[in-house]
Amino acid sequence: MTVKLTYHGHACFSIEGAGKTIWLDPFLTDNPQADVQVEDVKDADYILVSHGHGDHLGDATTIAQQTGAMIISNHEIASYSQERGAEAHGLHIGGGYQFPFGRVKMTIAHHGSSFPDGGYGGNPGGFLFDVEDKRIYFAADTGLFYDMKLLGEERAIDVALLPIGDNYTMGPDDALRAVQLLTPRLAVPMHYNTFDVIQQDPHAFAKKVKESTGANAVVLSPGESIDL
Ligand code: NI
Ligand code: MN
Repeated sequence: MTVKLTYHGHACFSIEGAGKTIWLDPFLTDNPQADVQVEDVKDADYILVSHGHGDHLGDATTIAQQTGAMIISNHEIASYSQERGAEAHGLHIGGGYQFPFGRVKMTIAHHGSSFPDGGYGGNPGGFLFDVEDKRIYFAADTGLFYDMKLLGEERAIDVALLPIGDNYTMGPDDALRAVQLLTPRLAVPMHYNTFDVIQQDPHAFAKKVKESTGANAVVLSPGESIDL
């Protein structure tokens, strides 16, 4: 069975594998890059939410309500989602849990996590998780940190989804260093060109990854998929 990864712009992806559909940071409404509208999302079994910012929490509770999907996030965002009628599972940094599609571990992210209304959204995170036999690292919003080296050590990462936008997260140079630390098979850039302050050339980033690391890199347009 192949695991299919689809980009939806900004930091939003969907993954099909293990008979499930898993969404990452489903920011569709007000996302100028989104290729789908929230009301058209019919297939969702799990939604991973990295932090409380509006461009990541996004439409998570709406999708959960309309599909019955379970939200997986930190404890505070899980509670927030449950209060809004969604099924949710709370993790905390360093903790993992075995879900039907694979194990999900919450990893550190150096960022913020307030809710759109200013409320406390707990600690921001990323996710290191498995879908079938594929290992995926979703860095979410973060600056570069040296502990990324640990993430690729226990088992090889098949794909690393890395922000390159700069300003709010790593820029392309630090994302390149992240690839060197993580040593994934494949790197996919995200969190760029959505807003004026995060304009980047993802193809230049991909070229540098291929030239100066052992990894491959693929730039996905919104709506585009690859088989991992
Ligand atoms: Ni953020
Ligand atoms: Mn963001």
